[in-house]
Amino acid sequence: MRILVTGGAGFIGSALVRHLVLERDAEVLVVDKLTYAGDRRSLRDCEGRPGFGFLQADICDRARMDAAFAEFRPEAVMHLAAESHVDRSIAGAAPFIETNIHGTFTLLEAARGYHATLDAAAKQAFRFLHVSTDEVFGSLGPTGAFCETTPYDPRSPYSASKAASDHLARAWRETYGLPTLVTNCSNNYGPYHFPEKLIPLIILNALDGKELPVYGDGSNIRDWLFVEDHARALVAAVERGVPGETYCIGGRSERRNLEVVQVICDLLDQRLPAARPRREQIRFVTDRPGHDQRYAIDCGKVERELGWRQQESFESGIARTIDWYLANDWWWQPLRQQRYAGERLGLIPALAKAG
Ligand code: NAD
Ligand code: DAU
Repeated sequence: MRILVTGGAGFIGSALVRHLVLERDAEVLVVDKLTYAGDRRSLRDCEGRPGFGFLQADICDRARMDAAFAEFRPEAVMHLAAESHVDRSIAGAAPFIETNIHGTFTLLEAARGYHATLDAAAKQAFRFLHVSTDEVFGSLGPTGAFCETTPYDPRSPYSASKAASDHLARAWRETYGLPTLVTNCSNNYGPYHFPEKLIPLIILNALDGKELPVYGDGSNIRDWLFVEDHARALVAAVERGVPGETYCIGGRSERRNLEVVQVICDLLDQRLPAARPRREQIRFVTDRPGHDQRYAIDCGKVERELGWRQQESFESGIARTIDWYLANDWWWQPLRQQRYAGERLGLIPALAKAG
């Protein structure tokens, strides 16, 4: 397949592109603006491979998107480009509105224009996969799980912008017949994860002997999925999913944040003993404003209808992830030194004082 992947220099996008290029022999054009979160080094294993191309461009730039479609002539779009960090969306929502909403709109319009030029068979086979998040469904209480029919209830600027983009993708199918599909996935983790997110931040702070910030009391729950399993699910959705449908993807691996942090400390202690157990570096800090309590996904539909199964358990995936960070400081050292050193993000000043 010839696939245009937006956001392919990011965490999930690069895992997807490595899978497509190295394991599926797909022809791929990555379209990525290379924001602070994008890094071409995450694609170094694909560079020079036949069928791999890279275009540094903003998805909000209609002319460049039109040209990318016209020149590459994709059979599918896998749209991952987004501003993705909740804490940054609290600190400043503008880029989230711009990229996640306006950018998705621009890409859908470019795809629609291109789709209209295809012959009947190519038109029917074309797919536009919009990659989204479980955060659009809001916050769960102690029981239950999100599924494809859960009403939308986004609560952060990030999740609200993703919810808007999901609605646009769906509307472009209903109104214009563009064959769009939407996936909503739970928290990913694994190699090449930008060290602003919980798991890589904790691994690297723990290694540096720094404090390990746990928001609130650490009781918030996330449903963790190894990133390569997500990549395989996205390919299954493009290959076997039905346009107009939504697919919820998850890890069936709910963990309290404190538990995740403790597991990382213990695994690091086993591999690289320090003077004191790393659990002593844990600090409970002011909670995230509007912090969603619990996410969990019922992924029965992707399992039944797409034949997808996750291959990595949380235990095997977190061990692989830690080993990857230990072996690949060439990747994360420059990011910690030049782009983000681990400082707290997303506190609203008045709330920070009160808390
Ligand atoms: P990321 O922040 O690691 O990567 C985002 C990529 O998009 C970067 O390479 C960045 O340069 C690029 N980008 C940003 N703005 C752009 C623009 N205007 N034009 C072109 N490229 C731009 O994100 P991620 O964690 O890999 O997430 C990828 C997608 O998956 C996002 O849509 C996110 O909402 C969704 N998602 C993420 C998770 C998760 O746990 N990380 C879970 C479910 C869904
Ligand atoms: O659920 C899918 C979403 O998962 C994706 O859509 C987002 O793009 C992705 O960033 C992620 O969002 P979260 O907000 O759940 O991920 P984050 O790693 O920022 O935080 C995970 C949990 O850990 C959350 O409850 C907040 C908490 N946390 C986070 C950081 C950065 C801490 O306790 N301490 C921290 O320092």
